[in-house]
Amino acid sequence: MASSRAAASSSYHSRLRIPPRRAPHTISVYVLLLLVFSAVLFLFSQRQITDVDQKNLQEERPQDWDRYLTVRSNGGLNQMRTGICDMVAVARIMNATLVVPQLDKKSFWQDSSTFADIFDETHFIKSLEGDVRIVKELPKEMESIPRARKHFSSWASMSYYEEMARLWKDYKVIHVPKSDSRLANNDLPLDIQKLRCRCLYHALHFSPPIETLGKV
Ligand SMILES: *[C@@H]1O[C@H](CO)[C@@H](O)[C@H](O)[C@H]1NC(C)=O
Repeated sequence: MASSRAAASSSYHSRLRIPPRRAPHTISVYVLLLLVFSAVLFLFSQRQITDVDQKNLQEERPQDWDRYLTVRSNGGLNQMRTGICDMVAVARIMNATLVVPQLDKKSFWQDSSTFADIFDETHFIKSLEGDVRIVKELPKEMESIPRARKHFSSWASMSYYEEMARLWKDYKVIHVPKSDSRLANNDLPLDIQKLRCRCLYHALHFSPPIETLGKV
């Protein structure tokens, strides 16, 4: 009887002992779940942060990223400089990304120089990045889509270009075959006039080889 009680008690104890042995297990499962949960929470919050960052960037610079203005400059170097800076302003007014303009290679100088041969292309893009998004080339996927070809009216004012923005309804790329149409000098908002000045006097520097040659 005593031995059977002992057996009973030992089996009672062993039954009792089971939960404390399981407990650490359960706790580690809880800890693991908690870790996984916080990891998920962390990743999610990171994602939200990047989403917010991108949104802020787009609000700061309202240009639509996927609308492109491609330009073929025309005339001599001086005329091309002013034309290029007018197109920088036009891209700003029309909320477009400007593709670095092509230079005239035929009509005056028979000069095969590219934009980057004459101007410091990286400096041009970088120094205007707060105003207009400029890229070196049209993205590959945009090359084959139909584009609007537009000879802009000469000496037109801001409202004309705002009106031209309706072309974005049908096209993602507007090609300007001549850059000498010129923006009106009067009645342009001050920020657009300032942008043209910044472009002419700060953004369009000669390329390093020309600068070096000039200093010799
Ligand atoms: C350019 O974007 C701004 C801000 O989103 C908007 O107010 C303006 O009307 C747009 N301009 C044109 C010409 O679409």
